[in-house]
Amino acid sequence: MKKVIWLTLVAWVATVTAEFNDLENFIRVAGTLDNTSTIGYINGSVFARQPGVGLKKLFNFEGYNIGRKVKQSDGSFLSLSREFCVYRNPITSQIEQVWPNIWTNKPNEVFYVANDPVNGIIGNAPSWQTAPHSRPLYQVYNADYILEYPNPLAPSSYANYSAGSNYDAVELFGYLANYTQLSMTESPSVEYIGTWVRRSQYLPWMEMSTKPGELYFASFYWKCTNGLSCVADDIMKIINEDYSKFKKAPSTFEKPNETSWTVFKKVIDQRRQAGLPDIIIPQVNTSTNVTVMDTSLDARVEKFLDVWPLSFSANGSAWSEIPEKQSIRLFDIRGFFQLDFERIPLDGGYRVQLDGNMQYIDTKTGHQIYRNYTNPITGQTVPAPKPELGVDYVFSKDSFYTIDIPDTESIGLLGAQSLDGDQSNGDAWSVNFLELAFPYSSLSGASPTGAHCAGTFATFSSWPTWMNMTDVPGNIVMKITMSK
Ligand SMILES: *[C@@H]1O[C@H](CO)[C@@H](O)[C@H](O)[C@H]1NC(C)=O
Ligand SMILES: *[C@@H]1O[C@H](CO)[C@@H](O)[C@H](O)[C@H]1NC(C)=O
Ligand SMILES: *[C@@H]1O[C@H](CO)[C@@H](O)[C@H](O)[C@H]1NC(C)=O
Ligand SMILES: *[C@@H]1O[C@H](CO)[C@@H](O)[C@H](O)[C@H]1NC(C)=O
Ligand SMILES: *[C@@H]1O[C@H](CO)[C@@H](O)[C@H](O)[C@H]1NC(C)=O
Ligand SMILES: *[C@@H]1O[C@H](CO)[C@@H](O)[C@H](O)[C@H]1NC(C)=O
Ligand SMILES: *[C@@H]1O[C@H](CO)[C@@H](O)[C@H](O)[C@H]1NC(C)=O
Ligand SMILES: *[C@@H]1O[C@H](CO)[C@@H](O)[C@H](O)[C@H]1NC(C)=O
Ligand SMILES: *[C@@H]1O[C@H](CO)[C@@H](O)[C@H](O)[C@H]1NC(C)=O
Ligand SMILES: *[C@@H]1O[C@H](CO)[C@@H](O)[C@H](O)[C@H]1NC(C)=O
Repeated sequence: MKKVIWLTLVAWVATVTAEFNDLENFIRVAGTLDNTSTIGYINGSVFARQPGVGLKKLFNFEGYNIGRKVKQSDGSFLSLSREFCVYRNPITSQIEQVWPNIWTNKPNEVFYVANDPVNGIIGNAPSWQTAPHSRPLYQVYNADYILEYPNPLAPSSYANYSAGSNYDAVELFGYLANYTQLSMTESPSVEYIGTWVRRSQYLPWMEMSTKPGELYFASFYWKCTNGLSCVADDIMKIINEDYSKFKKAPSTFEKPNETSWTVFKKVIDQRRQAGLPDIIIPQVNTSTNVTVMDTSLDARVEKFLDVWPLSFSANGSAWSEIPEKQSIRLFDIRGFFQLDFERIPLDGGYRVQLDGNMQYIDTKTGHQIYRNYTNPITGQTVPAPKPELGVDYVFSKDSFYTIDIPDTESIGLLGAQSLDGDQSNGDAWSVNFLELAFPYSSLSGASPTGAHCAGTFATFSSWPTWMNMTDVPGNIVMKITMSK
């Protein structure tokens, strides 16, 4: 009797899920199927790295994307949105309007992110996997881009603001969609918590010109359950006063997209036409209303991290990033590792060691483990490395913290760090990000060993020695979806 009921239930679930195709499911996650607008809230940190110096936290970064998805007659969706974000002082959390540049010692006029529009056509769902694989909390969509295109700020006219004739950036998005809602309901909108890592040249307003180094944005983003009410008061104040357009999603498809680069260029061009200086440092009114930014760890997450051994499974890919060259997916990665967490005394931060077994997998077959690897960039065949993983990362206290995300009933753990050798000796470098989501429900059990989580591990590094890249410029980008 019991068996019959269970089979009926399975059949019912199968009918419900069959209602949506892969793309529609992704739209339920990234937006909603009913043409209303949704907010993707963004909250994270901005870091900078200079060769041989290592990662330094510059700002907290907060804002949102407001958008709608509109179904087209061919089944694809228009994604219509605009986005607004601010840079916050990492200690006082105040919105920066003037930034005392730590490298040039010059004050910089800070430009908010005010990109309107950010539009696109979504024809296919990004590739997805369930995490944890056999007992899913999430259906994870990874949408990863390595962008190389002509810099809108040509060095000839915008030398102080331009890193060169080429714009290059990496955007790694992971949507962790609520698996139960996605597969068991017909709701047009499903919760997600997203992991986002972005690498880019310095922002134009930093006036860094061609100085070596780059920025890394690491953030969570998620769907707000109740419209704009999730937006921080001080950000909403700026929107109400000067950016009211950002209260609504666009309803028509306009091109081209705006980016921090094109918005900056427009302002500079207007000022030049009006005979004004390029840069106008605003008068800043000092405020005594300072709240100290919280960069602590949620006690439940700490308890989880203290479990040993803590075993994760991993599934991801690696790509090339070479200036002015189209990126190539180099290999896929599958494996398991154990995470060992330790506190460094005297507020020295945290140590995270990862030890395990990582296989290098052929991107074409999706399962074949490389013994020899034919490097698509050099054309050489080299022995594939041993499938061992053993790394030791130190995270400083301001770069390893949790945020509470009531909208998705979860806690996000964000970590960022770098390993930096002496580059004049050609030493290896890497910049590493950990972004894990813990549903409240999985943290509420009596034993921390029963808790589950999933998220992203992303690494940017100099070419691995085994690839024998000799003098090829650029670096490798790796992104792994990890879960326990
Ligand atoms: C605009 O930006 C979005 C997000 O970065 C991208 O998906 C889309 O392809 C871009 N659209 C155009 C028209 O370039
Ligand atoms: C790994 O990820 C790919 C998508 O990138 C997916 O097709 C595959 O099923 C995943 N494998 C596991 C074991 O999760
Ligand atoms: C998914 O949503 C349901 C409620 O709709 C909730 O009970 C569950 O904890 C959520 N799962 C995750 C992984 O957030
Ligand atoms: C570029 O920066 C230099 C050095 O800070 C400054 O002297 C010069 O005026 C700047 N040029 C413009 C066009 O702002
Ligand atoms: C979607 O909503 C917008 C704004 O309300 C409206 O202008 C547009 O016509 C709607 N499109 C469809 C296909 O319903
Ligand atoms: C500072 O206060 C003055 C006077 O109230 C105001 O005009 C100005 O816009 C304020 N500046 C900023 C950056 O808020
Ligand atoms: C100070 O900050 C708090 C919390 O953000 C806010 O509620 C309050 O209105 C602020 N006070 C002033 C004088 O700006
Ligand atoms: C954003 O993150 C900071 C910690 O970095 C936290 O203090 C703040 O409350 C968060 N805000 C929202 C809306 O999540
Ligand atoms: C790998 O390459 C080496 C050297 O070219 C060759 O001797 C060996 O047979 C290759 N192994 C496989 C499994 O293809
Ligand atoms: C690495 O590449 C260089 C240049 O192509 C070649 O001379 C050298 O033999 C290669 N080394 C190995 C270990 O394959």
